[in-house]
Amino acid sequence: MKETVVGQGTEQVVEAAQAEQAVFTASWFDCGARAVWDQLVPQLDARRMLEIGSYEGASACYLIRTLGRKAPLEIHCIDNWLGSAEHQAAGCDMRLIEARFHRNSRLAIESCPYPVELVVHKGYSDHCLAALLDEMKKGYFDFVYIDGSHRAPDVLSDAVLGFHLLRPRGVMVFDDYLWHEGTADSKDPLLCPKMAIDAFINCNFRKLRIISAPSARFICKRYRTEAGPVIPVVCAIPDPGQLRRARIAACPITR
Ligand SMILES: C[S@@+](CC[C@H](N)C(=O)[O-])C[C@H]1O[C@@H](n2cnc3c(N)ncnc32)[C@H](O)[C@@H]1O
Repeated sequence: MKETVVGQGTEQVVEAAQAEQAVFTASWFDCGARAVWDQLVPQLDARRMLEIGSYEGASACYLIRTLGRKAPLEIHCIDNWLGSAEHQAAGCDMRLIEARFHRNSRLAIESCPYPVELVVHKGYSDHCLAALLDEMKKGYFDFVYIDGSHRAPDVLSDAVLGFHLLRPRGVMVFDDYLWHEGTADSKDPLLCPKMAIDAFINCNFRKLRIISAPSARFICKRYRTEAGPVIPVVCAIPDPGQLRRARIAACPITR
């Protein structure tokens, strides 16, 4: 499938849409996570995927195209398509973003030789995740990707509920570990994911290990676990230069 990354509102969007190409106006995925995912995702034995935060579908389409080439796939995408605080501040037209998600994901699915079941959950992530638990989907997913709201209380809720939905030995990935807004209050820890990811890891360190990741963009630490299921967790961080600080900051509390 061809795809185009262009600035929102340019003529290229129209041309790409007319040519039935996928259109992504944001380059976060291509410029950030993709290099890591190129190494991680082919190693995953994952058929049931859960994504929190889909936007135009760049990461979801990547999963569909990469894993849907090998076997049937079920992918659940949660988004309220209201945009995070930073999208609202930038005046993004989220109706266009949502329309692009549906179009991009349809094109990705059509390019797969195996059936892909896409389940779209439009709503706030806490409600959608609770509803999935209510549908007896505890331990159902092989892979959970957390890339929704960046606010610490929201990230914590996504992590805790997403972890319940993850199967033993499943993989959970956080994006934007060291993200902060480029505004005056950018250092407010309550507006950033880091505090929540650290809290989640600290509270669960006996149940998870941070897997050795194929790139410096991931925190690589390994912990002994109690008897019982080992659930690997990968934390993506945005800037390899900040790895040292991230490692220290992510250390679980141990006695
Ligand atoms: C950074 S974007 C996701 C990017 C996407 N994973 C990609 O790689 O292109 C974050 C998305 O999360 C959604 N979002 C933010 N807060 C949310 C919440 N509380 N519940 C559901 N979706 C939310 C926004 O609407 C936005 O589309």
